[in-house]
Amino acid sequence: IDLATFAAGLPKAELHLHIEGSLEPEQMFAFARRNAVAIPYPDVEAVRAAYAFNNLQDFLDIYYAGADVLRTEADFRELAAAYFARCAADHVVHTEIFFDPQTHTARGIPIGTVIEGLLAGMADAQAEHGISSSLILCFLRHLDEADAFATLEAARPWLDRIAGVGLDSSEQGHPPSKFERVFAAAAEFGLKRVAHAGEEGPPAYVTEALDLLKVDRLDHGNRSLEDPLLVARLARSGMTLTVCPLSNLKLCVVPDIDAHPIDRMLRLGLRATINSDDPAYFGGYVNDNYSAVAASGRLTRDDFVTLARNSFLGSFLPDADVARHL
Ligand code: HPA
Ligand code: ZN
Repeated sequence: IDLATFAAGLPKAELHLHIEGSLEPEQMFAFARRNAVAIPYPDVEAVRAAYAFNNLQDFLDIYYAGADVLRTEADFRELAAAYFARCAADHVVHTEIFFDPQTHTARGIPIGTVIEGLLAGMADAQAEHGISSSLILCFLRHLDEADAFATLEAARPWLDRIAGVGLDSSEQGHPPSKFERVFAAAAEFGLKRVAHAGEEGPPAYVTEALDLLKVDRLDHGNRSLEDPLLVARLARSGMTLTVCPLSNLKLCVVPDIDAHPIDRMLRLGLRATINSDDPAYFGGYVNDNYSAVAASGRLTRDDFVTLARNSFLGSFLPDADVARHL
């Protein structure tokens, strides 16, 4: 069998997936119709045609607009169900799902509607597909610290069902330091911590995520490669990087897939993983990402075994469950 087929069949975990980014255009139209929400596109083809981005912000503008069709607990449950069906097809047996409560609460959707809908979808997936999952609550970094604190407070009744907190949205100009106190509060609640850093932002933002946010995992991290001392630190500490090749391509973080540094990351001893980020917007789910880098011809079968192993090693599963998956 060829390399992509081999990679596709490996059991794996997904550690970087924004559930709002799994909203396919077909589902967007279905939710819009039943919730009587207007969407500024005539049809599914027009939506797909709009998915041409020059940078992160181009994408975020369209991604936040698309999320407007999500209104009810059933919407979030079905959104999750569609994503889990793709996980099942891709041999994703565990997934740690990002969600952006502020995108919804700002529109008057209660945080409980979002969380209860997602938790119901996660329970369905465990029962139907045997897929385990957890939730990571992300703060939107373009909003202020007070808004993040209010979001953490609003989530208090569900914190026993949330694995950790994350940091996403517009990176440039919104350094991790802006959320140092919020992340310290999250740590006090026993939550894990992750942050997007070094996607568009400089290596210094990665260092801030480590030193100030005390992250357990780093999302993207591409620009760490510009700083050899930072690379050495990440490698030595066994820090997991949740790398997203097709996202990097679509958001122009790399000029083409053959220039993607996933092979360099592995050769440098970094604990890299492969993930889909926002699959409905970036042209593919986990196995599409594995295939894209397989096609670029710089990785071996052993590398793909390492990538899949890293996805479990970097997960927030209990050690016994990690061991069971290795
Ligand atoms: N970067 C920052 N924020 C995001 C992303 C991303 O790749 N996807 C969804 N929100
Ligand atoms: Zn992301």
